[in-house]
Amino acid sequence: MAKVLVIGAVGQIGTELTVALRKKFGGQSVIAATRKTAFPEEIAAGGPCEYFDVLEKEKMKEVVKKHGIETIYQLASLLSATGEKNPDAAFDINLLGLKSSLDVARECKVKKIFWPSSIAAFGPTAPHEGTPQRTVLEPTTMYGVTKVAGELLCQYYFRKYGLDIRSVRYPGLISYKAEPGGGATDYSVAIFYEAIKNRSYRCFVGPQTVLPMMYMPDAIRGTIELMGAPSERLTVRTSYNLAAISFSAMELADEVARLIPGFTCSYEPDSRQQIADSWPKSIDDSQARRDWGWKHEYDLRRMSEDMVKNLKTKLLGQ
Ligand code: SER
Repeated sequence: MAKVLVIGAVGQIGTELTVALRKKFGGQSVIAATRKTAFPEEIAAGGPCEYFDVLEKEKMKEVVKKHGIETIYQLASLLSATGEKNPDAAFDINLLGLKSSLDVARECKVKKIFWPSSIAAFGPTAPHEGTPQRTVLEPTTMYGVTKVAGELLCQYYFRKYGLDIRSVRYPGLISYKAEPGGGATDYSVAIFYEAIKNRSYRCFVGPQTVLPMMYMPDAIRGTIELMGAPSERLTVRTSYNLAAISFSAMELADEVARLIPGFTCSYEPDSRQQIADSWPKSIDDSQARRDWGWKHEYDLRRMSEDMVKNLKTKLLGQ
């Protein structure tokens, strides 16, 4: 069975992707890697685990050789807001970390690599509605800078070395499992937690802020589908636009209030507002839909209902 390595396996995406990949390929075939000191029980118990920092290229290489890795999901990253607090670390982890993984993949003849880009690759100069696959990429965050440079690096390694690297520009991801760690879209998850715990939430972007979002099960399924698509179908080797739902913070709050009677939301924009304002409101992902059949399943209502149901179980044991 082909061996898979997930780097960043305890992050927002990695936690769920690792579990989904183990379900698909078997626990022993999927190696979870992190630089953190502990894995959540579900991951620790589900299959092999390794510890290394994404910048420790030789350690990474050892792990890839030891397990005979054929596919790498390289998810280690600092998100946008954390990246603004520590731009040097964001550059190192997001971009140098990608470079070291691509070099390991090249040297160890890894067959396929996945790397996540983001709507943060776009900046204020890109069209904000229906942002096209190919347009101006002038991000204003370090996170966005690393995503644009990373996308180009992926395309370069594909063209120069024939490395089969695949990527999507994720929108804000909403999930009840791992909490998001320091992004400008975190409010779309925090609102559910606070609504269930306290029936109120102070939102760090204004009510009219609209951003592209996606429910995690769609994101995980889409990622696995992209990785399973025939290589010759893929016409984008930077990163595919990927979209599901776009809504304002107020529309989200209204939906939460419908599900949790008595919930109230107040708005106190902070520095993350500026980041959110620089990003698209909606994304044109027709290329992904054409090339490899991408299709989202969850709309705002279905996603919110599923979030509330699962978070009530997680937080209140109901
Ligand atoms: N969710 C991410 C962030 O807010 C966007 O890629 O940083």
